[in-house]
Amino acid sequence: MYNSKIIGLGYYVPERVVTNNDLSKMMDTSDKWIQERTGIKERRWVAPESKDTSSVMGAKASRIAIERSGLTKTDIDFIIFATLSPDMYFPGGGVQLQNMLEMPTVGALDVRNQCSGFIYALSIADQFIKTGMYKNILVVGAEYHSGGLDKSDAGRHVSVIFGDGAGAAVLSRTEDNTKGILSSHLHSEGEHAEQLTVKGPSICKWVPELLKENDPNDKSYYPYMNGTFVFKHAVMRFSEVIIEGLKANHLKAVDINMLIPHQANLRISQFIQKKFGLNDSQVFNNIQKYGNTTAASVVIALTEAWEQNKIKDNDIVVLAAFGSGFTWGSVIIRW
Ligand code: ACO
Repeated sequence: MYNSKIIGLGYYVPERVVTNNDLSKMMDTSDKWIQERTGIKERRWVAPESKDTSSVMGAKASRIAIERSGLTKTDIDFIIFATLSPDMYFPGGGVQLQNMLEMPTVGALDVRNQCSGFIYALSIADQFIKTGMYKNILVVGAEYHSGGLDKSDAGRHVSVIFGDGAGAAVLSRTEDNTKGILSSHLHSEGEHAEQLTVKGPSICKWVPELLKENDPNDKSYYPYMNGTFVFKHAVMRFSEVIIEGLKANHLKAVDINMLIPHQANLRISQFIQKKFGLNDSQVFNNIQKYGNTTAASVVIALTEAWEQNKIKDNDIVVLAAFGSGFTWGSVIIRW
C-alpha cells in the first residue's frame, strides 16, 4: 500500500468584493449582525459581466495547483470535482474541467457532498492512490453561490454567509507511509437532509410542471437552511469527527499543528478551538474575507495557510467539515 501526499495547492476567488454594507443595500441586514453572528466581513461574488462559473474557477485554481506540484496536466491520472453549484444539471463539472484544462481522456468524478465535498473528494482520491490504481489525482472544490441566492429580505439568513471561489490540490503517491494522508473519516445522517437544502430543480418537480406552474414566488430554487439546528449539529459533529481522527492515529489535541475547519461560521470554528484547547496559531480561519465557500472552503484555507508558511514539514494537519446532508468528515495529514 502507498500513501498519498498533497504536492500542489492553488485557489482562485473572483475579484469583486461584496462587503456587509453592500449587502445591507440589497436586503434588511447590517454589518454588525453579520459580523456578530458569523465573523464574516466580506465575501467574493462573481461580477455580472464575468464568465466565472464553478468549473471556470475550478480550472483557474487547478492550473496553479498543477504548476506548483511540478507536474504537468498529462501526469494527472484522475479528476475529482466537488461542488453544490455545478454549471449544468448534468453532466457534472469534472468533465468541463477536464475539457477546459485540455487534459487527456482521464476519468472525472463529481462529488455532491456540499460543505464536506472536499473532505469526501480527498478521501476518495486517497483510496485510489493507496491501492495503486492512480498515481496523481487532481482534487477540486468550487462554488458559484452568488448566482443562486435569494437576495431579498426572505433569504437574508442564508445569502449573507455564502461566497464564491475555488481551490485545488494535487495528490500524489508516496512510498513513505509515515507521511501524507494518515486517515479519513466520513459520516452522513440523511434524516436531516431537509434542514439545509435546495429542492429545485429536481426530477421530483421537473421542467413540464415548472413551466406549467410558472410561479414567480417559487422559492424552491433558493437554499433553505434551519440555521440554529444546523449550528447545533455542526459543533457536535465537528468535535466527534476530529476526536475520531485523532484516536485512529494515537494522537491528542496537543499534537495538532494546524486545524483547518470548514469555514461555515467563525463562531463554530471558535467553539471547536476552545473545546480542543487550541491556540490561535493552531487554527486557520479566512471566513472573514471569503464567507462560506462550501466545497471550496477547506482547500482555499489550506492553500492560504500553506502560502503563509503556517504549515511545515512533518506537521499534523487536521481538516474537518460539516454541512448539508447532513454529511461530515475529517482528514488527518502528516505534512
Ligand atoms: N441580518 C439581520 N438579521 C437577521 C439576518 C440577517 N442577515 N438573518 C436572520 N436575522 C434575524 C432573524 O430574523 C432573527 O430575528 P428574530 O429573532 O426577530 O426572529 C434573528 O436574526 C436570529 O435569526 P437566526 O436564524 O436564529 O440566527 P442565528 O443566530 O441562528 O444565525 C446563522 C444564523 C448565521 C445562519 C447560524 O444559524 C449558522 O451559522 N448556522 C450554521 C450554518 C452552517 O454551519 N451551515 C453548514 C454549512 S453550509 C452547507 O453545507 C451548504
